[in-house]
Amino acid sequence: MSHNILITGASGYLGGTLLARWGGAGLPAYQKLFALVRTPEQGEAVKQYGAEPLAFSLKNEAEIKSGIVDNEISVIFFLIDALTSKAQLPMIRALAEVKKQTGKDVHFLHTSGAKIFSSHAGLPHDRPLHDDDPQLYDFQKSAKPAFPPMQMAVATNNAVIETAEAHGVRSYIFVPCIVYGRGEGFGNPISIQTVAIVNAARKLEQVYRPDQEIYSWPVCHVIDNTRLYLEIMRNILSGKNIAHGKNGYYLASSGPIVWDDLYRAMAKGLAKRGVVKSDSVEVADDAALQAMGEALGCPKEAVSVHLGGSCTLTPNNACKIGWAPEFAAQHALEVADDEVDLILKSSK
Ligand SMILES: NC(=O)c1ccc[n+]([C@@H]2O[C@H](COP(=O)([O-])OP(=O)(O)OC[C@H]3O[C@@H](n4cnc5c(N)ncnc54)[C@H](OP(=O)(O)O)[C@@H]3O)[C@@H](O)[C@H]2O)c1
Repeated sequence: MSHNILITGASGYLGGTLLARWGGAGLPAYQKLFALVRTPEQGEAVKQYGAEPLAFSLKNEAEIKSGIVDNEISVIFFLIDALTSKAQLPMIRALAEVKKQTGKDVHFLHTSGAKIFSSHAGLPHDRPLHDDDPQLYDFQKSAKPAFPPMQMAVATNNAVIETAEAHGVRSYIFVPCIVYGRGEGFGNPISIQTVAIVNAARKLEQVYRPDQEIYSWPVCHVIDNTRLYLEIMRNILSGKNIAHGKNGYYLASSGPIVWDDLYRAMAKGLAKRGVVKSDSVEVADDAALQAMGEALGCPKEAVSVHLGGSCTLTPNNACKIGWAPEFAAQHALEVADDEVDLILKSSK
């Protein structure tokens, strides 16, 4: 069964790297690769990777439906919005229509994030939380996150799984964590949490730890993260029935690091370049949290959501489908100086 594939977020950090590594991945045969774009320039850029540009508004269900159904798209990798489910649910319904019209099996991968499986989302973090734990869906279903955006993001994971199940679509919840390293796509080359550490430090001329506790978080090099997307795609294109739906959570991570070690490693790089006054890491008091919130555009209570918190999510499903990381977790600390350099050169 030959698939038509749609990749979204091609100008982004994760999606751009996915597209850049696509050609070298030796994927099984498929019919056509489409990339969702928003500008003519992006449309030209995706062609270099063998992707056909496709432009439709994610705000309009009829446009989504015709974009997917008219092109008989049967696999969608969604890398745009971890918070809301506005575009994903219409896409899943359109996949169901493709299935009805063609008899093909149809697949939807939603990119979530480790925050949505962490203390911020009210998930257990007093022990390893395995991504193949059969209770994970129930944990997400009963989670009571304190912050509205986290409530929305948890509900999005659940809605994707439930809508896909109701429509006979296989769903996968892909979970990036602290992703680091230079993106290889034509658009955004930098990540999220490491950028937040730099942006907060710039404003305060000092690196602060937002949490009183010493917490850890999973990390992943952007190439390893990309290789998991590709491994899932390889399995789908090979017709393998890999874990999906309520069992289909895929964390991409080579292991955890302690936040403090990351703050310290980045503080060194920031101090070397004169961005902060010293390479020490201080515990943030109320005033520091307030200022960090101003730098990150959030209330002081949400600062930890951007660059702290506790996540013990542990990858099992990725290993079961043949993925193994190239870079150990420690590598994130070893190259923190390069990450600082990249972020300072790539952002204002
Ligand atoms: N990077 C990480 O470490 C990380 C970790 C956990 C979760 N995630 C999640 O993974 C997803 C991708 O992250 P990223 O780092 O690749 O983000 P990014 O670099 O900001 O890329 C976002 C992509 O989405 C596209 N996009 C946004 N709104 C769109 C719309 N309405 N229609 C079409 N395209 C739209 C952007 O296109 P334009 O270029 O046209 O704006 C861009 O290609 C996000 O949801 C993020 O929260 C990322």
